[in-house]
Amino acid sequence: MQAVFFVVTLFLALLLALLLALSPTPLHAQEKGISPSRQGELIHLLKQDCGSCHGLTLAGGLGPPLLPAELSGKPPEWLRDVILDGIPNTAMPPWRPILNEDEVTWLVKRMLQGIPHGQ
Ligand code: HEC
Repeated sequence: MQAVFFVVTLFLALLLALLLALSPTPLHAQEKGISPSRQGELIHLLKQDCGSCHGLTLAGGLGPPLLPAELSGKPPEWLRDVILDGIPNTAMPPWRPILNEDEVTWLVKRMLQGIPHGQ
């Protein structure tokens, strides 16, 4: 009787391990190193802080529009560097003190895809 119990327990444990191994990686885990809560903060920063100059819907204001149509022709590496280091002698400030490279790379990807409003 004890042996049967042991075999059943072992079987269930193996089944559980298999299920865990096969379950798909959550999408957010693929954004290397940026936790879902930090991603939320970054989108908030993009809308509020960047939006204060680039327009709340990023359609342009003091700074140029940051919408996919306007950004798509520009190299992502250049966009990343502009955000990290700013543009000298303009109102565009450097964000390096607040954002790291991975975070800016992630933001550039989002900006190129377009940020849905009301998110
Ligand atoms: C204080 C105002 C201000 C803030 C805040 C600001 N920007 Fe800018 N940004 C500008 C201005 C002005 C320019 C245009 C500078 C020039 O004349 O080339 C610019 C240019 C840019 C460009 C280059 C766009 C292009 O097509 O040439 C990018 C990308 C950009 N900003 C991204 C951001 C992001 C992302 C943030 C938030 C993390 C941000 N900016 C916050 C004022 C601002």
